[in-house]
Amino acid sequence: MPAHRQKKFRQINKFLEMLRDVEEYIPDNSVIIDMGCGKSYLTFAIYHYFNILNNKNIEIRGYDLKKDVVDYCNSLADKFGFNDLKFYCEDIADIENKDERISMIITLHACDTATDYAIYHGIRWGCKVMMNVPCCQHELFSQIKNDKMDIMLEHGIIKERFSALMTDAIRARLIELMGYDVKVMEFIDMEHTPKNIMIRSVKTDKKPDEHKKAELEALIKEYELNPTLYKLLYGNK
Ligand SMILES: C[S@@+](CC[C@H](N)C(=O)[O-])C[C@H]1O[C@@H](n2cnc3c(N)ncnc32)[C@H](O)[C@@H]1O
Repeated sequence: MPAHRQKKFRQINKFLEMLRDVEEYIPDNSVIIDMGCGKSYLTFAIYHYFNILNNKNIEIRGYDLKKDVVDYCNSLADKFGFNDLKFYCEDIADIENKDERISMIITLHACDTATDYAIYHGIRWGCKVMMNVPCCQHELFSQIKNDKMDIMLEHGIIKERFSALMTDAIRARLIELMGYDVKVMEFIDMEHTPKNIMIRSVKTDKKPDEHKKAELEALIKEYELNPTLYKLLYGNK
């Protein structure tokens, strides 16, 4: 197997491993949505895991911007007789879905703020589980400012990583404020991909902690940030 395929293969196996810890929250006859599914190796693997290996009846929908890739994935699903696996060409930001059976949304390396839109949909649709492995967290890089933190913002490479970590820390806090138990974990060893943070969230009936919200808003103000997920959930500051 070529090296890049081996990397993707490991990522998919790890994703499935992490999915097993929360699979109790994915009821039979529910729907899973993979946003930014690309060539959909993960989407097919999850379909196979639930519907073929575990005899469950889970409908899976993949969304991506690339029409040729979406068409190809649909033709493969047809060829294998995977009737409950469908792909759609649509921008994640525009997905509207009134299906109450959606139990989980996933993203694996959906670019930049596409991850925020996916998380936003998951929250507003009341999804029980969200599994998100972000990538290309560019948004805050161009916003971030803080005179007291020059030491972290002076060098491009450090500023880039600091902004990316800040992006995911803010996402994790926002998801928690929406009533989810959130775990931020190493997804896979750095040697396989540097995009290696998994944010795994399970819905609870916890009420938002106002102190944690104030802490987040103080941080956003201090660093002069305007993160997409915050705007989607609370409107403009
Ligand atoms: C790095 S690829 C990852 C693909 C797949 N999830 C995987 O891990 O193999 C990111 C994918 O997200 C898609 N994408 C990026 N922004 C999107 C958006 N706003 N709406 C839908 N798809 C998007 C891209 O077309 C691309 O196929």
